[in-house]
Amino acid sequence: MKKFTRLISLMLVLLMALGMSNVGLANDISGGSANNMVRFGSDGKLKVMHITDSHITSKNADASMWLIGKALDKEQPNVAVVTGDNINAGEGWEKVKEFVDRYMELFESRGIPVAVTFGNHDSETDQFTRDQLLEHYNRFSCSLAKADVQPLSGSGTYYVPVYGSNDNSVKFNLWVFDSNDYDAEGNYSCVQADQVNWYKATSDKIRLANGGQKVYSFAFQHIIVPEIYDVLKKVDHSGAFIYERIYTDGEYYAFDPDSTNYGTLYEEPCCGYENFGQFDAMVEKGDVIAVFSGHEHTNNFAVNNQGIDIVNTGSCRYNGDAYSAQYGYRILEVDENDPSKYTTRVEKWYDMFTWGDVFTLKSAGDDLGFDTALNVTFQGFFQKGWNNFYIAIVEMFTGRRVSYPHSK
Ligand SMILES: [Fe+2]
Repeated sequence: MKKFTRLISLMLVLLMALGMSNVGLANDISGGSANNMVRFGSDGKLKVMHITDSHITSKNADASMWLIGKALDKEQPNVAVVTGDNINAGEGWEKVKEFVDRYMELFESRGIPVAVTFGNHDSETDQFTRDQLLEHYNRFSCSLAKADVQPLSGSGTYYVPVYGSNDNSVKFNLWVFDSNDYDAEGNYSCVQADQVNWYKATSDKIRLANGGQKVYSFAFQHIIVPEIYDVLKKVDHSGAFIYERIYTDGEYYAFDPDSTNYGTLYEEPCCGYENFGQFDAMVEKGDVIAVFSGHEHTNNFAVNNQGIDIVNTGSCRYNGDAYSAQYGYRILEVDENDPSKYTTRVEKWYDMFTWGDVFTLKSAGDDLGFDTALNVTFQGFFQKGWNNFYIAIVEMFTGRRVSYPHSK
């Protein structure tokens, strides 16, 4: 009888252990909070809006947030991803909290779930930590960020499973990485070794939970992966649309005409100085179809490296000048029936409004809207003209192609 009791106790302990490990796995696999699930729309499409580098300050907050709100109304994405340098830390903690509240309310009020991570400027202060900042973002129920994944480097590394339009199976996945801010030498940072290991282990778990099939995914982070330079062409001189590689002297890079390019390279990609193998891990796991970053405000491009698109999205801030009228956001779309592919387009503020829209805002008495729409449209007309003229001149005189369509 004693032996039998011991056997029963042992079985109970084993069952509890199994049950606990399943609970752990289930929590880990299911990711986001249950009341904030992201799923494909009823049309079987997932529309993701990538917003980055809003760099909100007192100077640009009203216009930038008004534009982002208009873009959300126009696009009505299933989910938005915000990849850092969101609110400049320089005006202090109280101001940052006020701006985060206004920023998150854009998504909250429209019922759009949003996955946020940080850049190098979000916590550039000793007044608060990245964890405190994330906690503040997470006061909003639209926030998909998870502070409790595990104590990884940075704050804001997690994933968001995307469920089918008609069922609760995971059809796609969004990886969100905190690429941190600066290394000990003051260079740009990157995704650290512990985050890479977490990605590899979690990718395996997700595959296992999906019957051994990989779940296709996007990855988002602030700072671009250094492997971008592997698919640019090294040239021996500087020039228009040719850039000196960051951390080097005299190494110049431009679009490689033999690669499949999208968009335009307007400045040098500012990757981290160190590299802990994030991109290699993504190639090895084979689940990421594109990795999106921000950080360089004027760069909107995509280049493929070993089956993964390395994509940059420009800033979405609007400072009231012609230059920032060329900023905007990026839309990505995935079809539930074939999540191994996606389409993307870049939308710029200067293309957002017709003159009819501008005067409708005026007659509606929306002073902020009228001023902002008028400025981006009017100033942007000249900025766009200059961009196109400059590209045409460079291409004509050098015989090099420097700009490609933005859409894919
Ligand atoms: Fe940045």
